[in-house]
Amino acid sequence: VSATITRLLGASIIKKQIVAITGLGLAGFVVFHLSGNLLIFLGPEAFNGYAEKFEKLGELKWLPRAGLILFAFLHVYFTILVVLENREARGSRYAVRNDFGSTSWAKKTMIYSGLLVFFFLFIHIGDFTLPEKTGPTTVVPGVADGESLGLYGLVWNSYLVWWRSLFYVIAVCCVGMHLSHGIQSVFQTMGINHPVYTPLIKRTSIAIGAVVAVGFASIPLFVLIVRTPPV
Ligand code: HEM
Repeated sequence: VSATITRLLGASIIKKQIVAITGLGLAGFVVFHLSGNLLIFLGPEAFNGYAEKFEKLGELKWLPRAGLILFAFLHVYFTILVVLENREARGSRYAVRNDFGSTSWAKKTMIYSGLLVFFFLFIHIGDFTLPEKTGPTTVVPGVADGESLGLYGLVWNSYLVWWRSLFYVIAVCCVGMHLSHGIQSVFQTMGINHPVYTPLIKRTSIAIGAVVAVGFASIPLFVLIVRTPPV
């Protein structure tokens, strides 16, 4: 059995399918995360309440986290294998067009946007997951009589710093771009090439990427423009 699995994993199409499936899983998380984050527009109670529900899972919260880490690892690992393989294929006389995306431009930006998202995640977890959710960094100056606003306050204070907000806006644009090209690649990997559906898939994937980018970017932009939380 293990020999069969090794042989299957060695096949280029299986590698691409692993990239595609894990990518779809990660995209699912991103959409879920966006919907939770948009609660920030409803105020601290709604936003913190949502985060606390996850916190209440206790040790169980490591289950979805482990899934996410596994998916991210597989996605990056098999992407590297596919990219290396494509490079090798191009170098040989019998070069097979083994493209990952539809155009070489899309393919190149996939690597850069993917890399930026990868590094963004470390900074992002350092910004919001690891810090204290009750200390002075969660008190927004001038509101709630100096009381902690919890995670909401932490996020709000972070985005009051313009360069951090700018970095987040750039990062979430990369997430949106990566997602829209990624969705198109999934259909290509599945071998769908249709005169009507392919352009439709392209337009839909651009729309999904744009909604994700604009949705996430609206949060730091809102904080920068409003400056004082409406609490
Ligand atoms: C403006 C945009 C964003 C905001 C306001 C935001 C907000 C947050 C907050 C508040 C947390 C900490 C949750 C907690 O500790 O309870 C968090 C965690 C996280 N975010 Fe985001 N996020 C944003 C964009 C993104 C994007 C684009 C991605 C992925 C590409 C992402 C991936 C994650 C991950 C993986 C975690 C760690 C989850 C965990 O604690 O296990 N975030 N985010």
